[in-house]
Amino acid sequence: MVLNTIREADLKNKRVLIRVDFNVPLKDGKVTDATRIVAALPTIKYILDQPGTSLVVMSHFGRPKGKKNPDFSMIPVGKKFEELLGRKVKVASDVIGPEVKKEVEALKPGEVLLLENCRFYPDEEENNPSFAKELASFGDIYVNDAFGTAHRAHASTEGVAHYLPAYAGFLIEKEVKFMAPLLENPEKPFVAIIGGSKVSSKISVLESLVKTCNTIVIGGGMAYTFLKVQGHSIGKSLVEDDFLDTAKNFLAAAKAKKVNVILPVDHICAEAFAEDAKPVAVDSVDIPENLMGMDIGPKTTKLIVDALSDAKSVVWNGPMGVFEFASFAKGTEAVAKALAASKAITVVGGGDSVAAINKFGLADKISHVSTGGGASLEFLEGKTLPGIKALEK
Ligand code: 3PG
Repeated sequence: MVLNTIREADLKNKRVLIRVDFNVPLKDGKVTDATRIVAALPTIKYILDQPGTSLVVMSHFGRPKGKKNPDFSMIPVGKKFEELLGRKVKVASDVIGPEVKKEVEALKPGEVLLLENCRFYPDEEENNPSFAKELASFGDIYVNDAFGTAHRAHASTEGVAHYLPAYAGFLIEKEVKFMAPLLENPEKPFVAIIGGSKVSSKISVLESLVKTCNTIVIGGGMAYTFLKVQGHSIGKSLVEDDFLDTAKNFLAAAKAKKVNVILPVDHICAEAFAEDAKPVAVDSVDIPENLMGMDIGPKTTKLIVDALSDAKSVVWNGPMGVFEFASFAKGTEAVAKALAASKAITVVGGGDSVAAINKFGLADKISHVSTGGGASLEFLEGKTLPGIKALEK
């Protein structure tokens, strides 16, 4: 995958239209985690450092379902963006229309205009060509740095690229640089650690990574379906009976490829799924009838740590247990620490494992923490992301 990157663009005296993913968490009108804004700053600063450039910024925020809704306005996000960028950011009165056109045309070199939430119009998600064309009329050049939204074929992420010269920003470039080799030619040994609650949402990524990895760790709620297939008792643990065959076929495929699969060999359980549930250590693969698995146990953690000891590449997607509950966070924390201590190229993707890495303060010790949730999962599944495809040479 070779992308047109912003380095190749002649930006001088251009009005640049950029799509970013500023879909950030907000509480009481304040941004609580600005990671995605910070991640787009290198591209934005680079553009503004070129002589004579001005910038029109597009993003979505939440899911306002194609309607103008002040709860989903870009205004609070714009404030945080302005503070982090260190220069004035004007939030436009709308996304498109004659007023916005005037605001865009009034931009002077060095000025930044953030359009309102592009999902205020249904045309955005419908990828309506005339909407895309109107957005495209706001710039001379289109830059996409919204990796988190690259799996959506929307007007601002894909449609616009049909009407303007289109380039990848540094964030998209970096995400692809770290993730593409995992599917193509990872440095080996390559260990994939896949967790989360559902087999149904992670089976495609397992089936994709099994083609290139040496070891796959399966943890989190989805592991109990695999243990059930192997004939173990799993007590009251989460299980997807509709996916037993899928899990069985996956284990057979991994065996045929000589991929080492690590499943939990011990557990931290509870009688009920509750934050204050008493943790019960179960020192065997089999779980008693009255208990449910909530986290991996220490022996499983050691197996994972040992598997990482000589790894050259590691990807982690999905927590090992219910890490939001303090009593059941140890397995996920241990995996996060093992990744942080590893000399391998470490890539973490997916909302929950990224949240875990941040919760334990380890983000700066990971080679690459993806800004994509669904996007990084789809990337690792080997799917073509329309937002990235539109930037290919
Ligand atoms: C995300 O938060 O994963 C992205 O911003 C995409 O949001 P969406 O799932 O609403 O398209």
